Amino acid sequence: MARHLLLPLVMLVISPIPGAFQDSALSPTQEEPEDLDCGRPEPSARIVGGSNAQPGTWPWQVSLHHGGGHICGGSLIAPSWVLSAAHCFMTNGTLEPAAEWSVLLGVHSQDGPLDGAHTRAVAAIVVPANYSQVELGADLALLRLASPASLGPAVWPVCLPRASHRFVHGTACWATGWGDVQEADPLPLPWVLQEVELRLLGEATCQCLYSQPGPFNLTLQILPGMLCAGYPEGRRDTCQGDSGGPLVCEEGGRWFQAGITSFGFGCGRRNRPGVFTAVATYEAWIREQVMGSEPGPAFPTQPQKTQSDPQEPREENCTIALPECGKAPRPGAWPWEAQVMVPGSRPCHGALVSESWVLAPASCFLDPNSSDSPPRDLDAWRVLLPSRPRAERVARLVQHENASWDNASDLALLQLRTPVNLSAASRPVCLPHPEHYFLPGSRCRLARWGRGEPALGPGALLEAELLGGWWCHCLYGRQGAAVPLPGDPPHALCPAYQEKEEVGSCWNDSRWSLLCQEEGTWFLAGIRDFPSGCLRPRAFFPLQTHGPWISHVTRGAYLEDQLAWDWGPDGEETETQTCPPHTEHGACGLRLEAAPVGVLWPWLAEVHVAGDRVCTGILLAPGWVLAATHCVLRPGSTTVPYIEVYLGRAGASSLPQGHQMTSAPPLLCQMTEGSWILVGMAVQGSRELFAAIGPEEAWISQTVGEANFLPPSGSPHWPTGGSNLCPPELAKASGSPHAVYFLLLLTLLIQS
Ligand code: ARG
Repeated sequence: MARHLLLPLVMLVISPIPGAFQDSALSPTQEEPEDLDCGRPEPSARIVGGSNAQPGTWPWQVSLHHGGGHICGGSLIAPSWVLSAAHCFMTNGTLEPAAEWSVLLGVHSQDGPLDGAHTRAVAAIVVPANYSQVELGADLALLRLASPASLGPAVWPVCLPRASHRFVHGTACWATGWGDVQEADPLPLPWVLQEVELRLLGEATCQCLYSQPGPFNLTLQILPGMLCAGYPEGRRDTCQGDSGGPLVCEEGGRWFQAGITSFGFGCGRRNRPGVFTAVATYEAWIREQVMGSEPGPAFPTQPQKTQSDPQEPREENCTIALPECGKAPRPGAWPWEAQVMVPGSRPCHGALVSESWVLAPASCFLDPNSSDSPPRDLDAWRVLLPSRPRAERVARLVQHENASWDNASDLALLQLRTPVNLSAASRPVCLPHPEHYFLPGSRCRLARWGRGEPALGPGALLEAELLGGWWCHCLYGRQGAAVPLPGDPPHALCPAYQEKEEVGSCWNDSRWSLLCQEEGTWFLAGIRDFPSGCLRPRAFFPLQTHGPWISHVTRGAYLEDQLAWDWGPDGEETETQTCPPHTEHGACGLRLEAAPVGVLWPWLAEVHVAGDRVCTGILLAPGWVLAATHCVLRPGSTTVPYIEVYLGRAGASSLPQGHQMTSAPPLLCQMTEGSWILVGMAVQGSRELFAAIGPEEAWISQTVGEANFLPPSGSPHWPTGGSNLCPPELAKASGSPHAVYFLLLLTLLIQS
């Protein structure tokens, strides 16, 4: 509307009046004709949660390029001066050479030919001497352009506040930039400048929010010279790449730069507003740097406030934001439960993850007749949500790119045509950030997922407890693989729960999701089990690795910070562990901490021979038990007697009547990484002499195939040249494996 007003102002620039800085004593009513008429864009009208700006709305916004790309934002404060953030130009405590930087002015979309934009080289970069790191403040920098910018409607300086300027908390201001639109989610092409409205937060409010434990359980001290803007509930913020850009507030028809985008914890997170450098604090420093440059920046006096404007922040009450997702009236009453109805197939269970998006397995929607493309007749699809009278219609289906071949990525997002109003009855589930660490012992539940079976038992609401990462990872992970440390993405999540044993029910086809609770808030922690057959514990694919994809597609799914940090006494134990050897049946040599009473050694077997002898056997693989030859075979006999093997009860029960224990106790040693290995078996009649297992490795592995041997590096030192753990006369006997060991093929497992 007032774009033409710029014309006379442009002429002011062409004939600048010297002495622009000697105006501090001017009365507020008096205009400052010698100043640039700063801060007046002529609006015809990322930033997280923002939207495309209109061209020319923010004519002081510049883009700072380094190495051919946008790195930071900045603001034009005078024809030859750009204000930005110190951290943009520092690497390892040293300032990068000015010659490597260029300033793009008057740019709106950074894609393609930059119409109307122009570039300036940087002659010098100045940073306050006391700047060291963003959290300690003084995060500002001045860039002197090699030649003045050519001012025009799209290129115009902003006003700077004097040190005495008071921005009232609660004021709605605007931040602008080409930064990420969410954490780790760059602004998409055509890279149009983003704007977002942020409220100034008083220092006390900001300190109160930042004193709440947040991401990584960290808190922050807000220092003088810092300013916060945003919302306790988050969701609107600046982000990576916006740094150095301006936060501007309109006063008396002019835009003043209140802040410089400096840092934050994540982007748009709850109780973590953006932290800006308070420009007013640095009036003196800025004036000092630009001294002698004409025309310099304009520091208009603060326009008179209206009567109702509070001059000073009133006492602030601190209202912290609580999670908006993951609240359930009681376990099982899931307000995010969504059923996707596709004509011609059974309902598919998913979860509401935002006002407009439902997450469900992609396999529900894959067309069996065509290899990759799903049926797209979305018009007929409906989504049922709890307590919503009418079924929702579906606007869009977005499948994970690996959905058709990778079980861990069997995910699709469905966009609802109309967003639902969130309420206690319909609200999204919380999703974990990639670095989330669900503590072992977390309380979890299984919920239906996809075309899952109705329930494991009738109406069963499966309660589960999360097992430690080591056990879970090593059961399903690769031998020798490093166990992920807390904060690294886990490969699997293993909940332990009571499962009804049914013959042949190895769960191959069931679909479940794993919900875990922290501080009363439910997270969707995992989906589907691994194709683990009958192996316990069941493993789930962790959902946290998909958080970035889900937020990229939905732009607003509820990714929530970790809420429970109490790791208990051994929580700090975070040295890297590696997994013991294992086969497709899982890792060997592990003892589950919560083993049934009496079963301390899950590999011990009772070998009952011909109804009168009992000796010790060792389970080497699902079908094989190792026992001492002398226990199984009668001296001089080669016929194998009738043998029964009992597993899972060794030492737990008393021996049957008339049986005597013909013990051949095994010698087990625990490796440093925790697993137990079989080192020897007692020779006949001895409790101290053991025949070494090592020399029989070839015979055992040939016979059993899937027996687990430690890799050479992990082995204890095996004596070479036979079993010299034995006295010489017995060592001869052990030359033939069959003289010492007997392997039983288990065809029938009788278990009490
Ligand atoms: N330091 C970031 C940058 O270099 C800006 C981060 C702002 N973060 C925030 N949550 N407000 O671009």
